[in-house]
Amino acid sequence: MSKTRVGLIFGGQSQEHEVSIMTAREVLGAMDESKYAVILYGIDKKGYWRRMTGIQDTLTHLDHDLRGLKIPGDIVDSLQRDCDVLFPLLHGPFGEDGRIQGFFEMIGLPYVGSGVLGSGVAMDKEVARRLLKARGIPMVEARVLRRHQETDPGGLIRALGLPLFVKPANLGSSIGISKVKTLDDLRAGIAEAFRFDDKILVEEGREVREIECGVLGNENPRVSGVGEIIPSHEFYDYEAKYFDGGASKILIPAELPEETVARIQELALKAYQELELEGLARVDFFIDKTGGEVYLNEVNTMPGFTPFSMYPRLFLEAGLTYSELIDQLIDLGLKEA
Ligand SMILES: Nc1ncnc2c1ncn2[C@@H]1O[C@H](COP(=O)(O)OP(=O)(O)O)[C@@H](O)[C@H]1O
Ligand SMILES: [Mg+2]
Repeated sequence: MSKTRVGLIFGGQSQEHEVSIMTAREVLGAMDESKYAVILYGIDKKGYWRRMTGIQDTLTHLDHDLRGLKIPGDIVDSLQRDCDVLFPLLHGPFGEDGRIQGFFEMIGLPYVGSGVLGSGVAMDKEVARRLLKARGIPMVEARVLRRHQETDPGGLIRALGLPLFVKPANLGSSIGISKVKTLDDLRAGIAEAFRFDDKILVEEGREVREIECGVLGNENPRVSGVGEIIPSHEFYDYEAKYFDGGASKILIPAELPEETVARIQELALKAYQELELEGLARVDFFIDKTGGEVYLNEVNTMPGFTPFSMYPRLFLEAGLTYSELIDQLIDLGLKEA
């Protein structure tokens, strides 16, 4: 039996560049050498690609101007000649939002994860919200602001109360997100979020538990159990996600009544299908600490994917090892072709 040739793509232009490199090291280590021939492609922070012989975290952009081309011909050549399937281990803008998926489609290669459309709509919190709300999926109240429209911060507070969460529509890792408690904070939060996007969301801020659920598959996806994030900070901000030395906790399974778990799983599956996702996604929820209501927060088409991340751990709990999960994702990617 000949080996499946998998192109692992890592690094990338988003804030999660370093996370992606860590993930690639873990995924490579877990791939069965008797099944796969792995070809490595690193993308530096400026978006320049190169073939790699190992996974180094020294992917800098120091020499990008010498190389000239972002995706040189020999890379495009190698992708098409050397790979049966591509596995982009990239999070956030450019990697998780349909752009790189469009490139894969153009060169005619199958890949792991959602397609152009699903990736794009899931990345845009405002568009995803419109689609999901229209299907009756509960989400907290929010308003959308666009850069070139008048905003009335006082009116937002009257409509949604305080605290509020202000967030860029298209980003991740809590970048540009503020929790605001006063009118002045709100003005500052809006300005901060607009540094990252032309469209931002202002959401009512609830006291919440944060519950996450995994989905795996193409047309007949399966759901995992649910886990809970206990952030080390007031909310699950950038620092709490990556730099608190493990003080944020993951609890699997989350301690919840059976009916609540079933409802979350049902909503996760519905959201996955509504957004036309493929391969994998992690669907994140809030449970109001006071009233117990369940709200969908967001859908991630390339969730954290180290062995210590929520998504692989949820499926480990469901009986799939990290290596088996990788096998399934590659298989699903090939089937989607
Ligand atoms: N409406 C909200 N109410 C309470 N907490 C929120 C709300 N929106 C966001 N948060 C907090 O901010 C974190 C990041 O927000 P999220 O929308 O998930 O953005 P990202 O895509 O960057 O993860 C959440 O995990 C949660 O801790
Ligand atoms: Mg989130």
